[in-house]
Amino acid sequence: MVLRSVRLTAHAQRNAMSKMKVPFGTISIPPRAKELINEALEIKRVSCGRMVRQFEEGFAKLLGMPHAVAVATGTDADALALALLHDFGATPESEVIIPALSFVATGNAVLHARLTPKFVDIDRKTLNIDVSKIEAAITERTKAIMPVHLMGKPADMDPIMDIAARYNLTVVEDAAEAHGMLYKGKPAGAIGHLGAFSLYVAHIISTIEGGIITCRSEEHAEILISLRSHGRGCSCPSCVLSTTQSYCAKRFRDGQDIRFTFPRVGYSCKMNELEAAVGLANIDVYEDIVATRHANLKYVLDRFERFAPFLSTITEESWEKIGPHAIPVVVNEAASFTRDELASYLEQNGVETRTLFASMPTQCPGFAYLGHQLGEFPVAEYMGHNGFHIGCHHDLGIAEMEYFLHVLDKFLTERQS
Ligand SMILES: Cc1ncc(COP(=O)(O)O)c(C=O)c1O
Repeated sequence: MVLRSVRLTAHAQRNAMSKMKVPFGTISIPPRAKELINEALEIKRVSCGRMVRQFEEGFAKLLGMPHAVAVATGTDADALALALLHDFGATPESEVIIPALSFVATGNAVLHARLTPKFVDIDRKTLNIDVSKIEAAITERTKAIMPVHLMGKPADMDPIMDIAARYNLTVVEDAAEAHGMLYKGKPAGAIGHLGAFSLYVAHIISTIEGGIITCRSEEHAEILISLRSHGRGCSCPSCVLSTTQSYCAKRFRDGQDIRFTFPRVGYSCKMNELEAAVGLANIDVYEDIVATRHANLKYVLDRFERFAPFLSTITEESWEKIGPHAIPVVVNEAASFTRDELASYLEQNGVETRTLFASMPTQCPGFAYLGHQLGEFPVAEYMGHNGFHIGCHHDLGIAEMEYFLHVLDKFLTERQS
């Protein structure tokens, strides 16, 4: 098999000569973050308070959503968005449909929420839940679908919302990797009933560690605020936020202290002010970050066809904009090398790689007790062995993307010609 010729620009050729570094992730800590952190330290208000509230408002506005509730991690965001189903009759036997392939946090979150995961294989082209297999997975115990926008590539939300409406299911978007994504004009987190984002370091808006849930319903927002604070009965600012106002008018009623009444099984996963300070400053630079990352991603996607049939990636369709989280690569059956061989070659040449996760039910030992058998989720399992991803973050540019393509070319020329 002869590879198509590679044309590098003069600039890229110069860069390609020397070994470059293409680290997987980065974080922006703009000067405003430092000012806000100092402000919080100065007034000694560091636990969940005014800045967290401002961050929630800013994040909700970005997506055009009425509510956002900030939590400690993206896994908590997934778990709380699902745990609120217990207010509407869910039990530990209630099922949540999720893709078999995702970062393990997606499956963990269902279990943290005291619900049962129901796995559905993925679509090889999109790496997202195979929508044609969802209906067959629905039972009378199904309460929700949690599609994942893996690598920022939108799950096919129209049919998912349609199925959910027909079976009266709640849709929680796992949008952990989908900041900046658009599906038919709508941003991630503004399509389903709730959206759950990670704000971990490698993500586009980061609070270092953190997560945030977007929702339309005020009732949902109130339950989420209660859940993140031990399941507290009162969600007024004085009970759940660290503010100067410490008086709760509802506190002592009917012989009970509502502040210390816990009507639901809660979590302890509030975001703190220092994290919110980083998040607020990240919102200021969000558009620039998305633009740089998207240009990097597109540069690679537009030039990837030349690696067929050995390697493939995702494509950006006309109705969508991929949230530029990272760039997935799949080593196809036609290749005479393994994913691990290629990933190790990239690492030796300065390009950091991460695997493309694994089939949670059949390739993650922690889920073995659920009793699934290898072979049940063939596409997810294939990715578990043959997929990886690399960074396209905003500290990288076209030169690094060109270098990555060049290293792939070199590897394929050495191994496949
Ligand atoms: C798809 C997906 N869901 C959930 C999470 C959990 O986020 P966190 O690491 O902030 O808990 C991640 C983490 O990156 C993720 O990739």
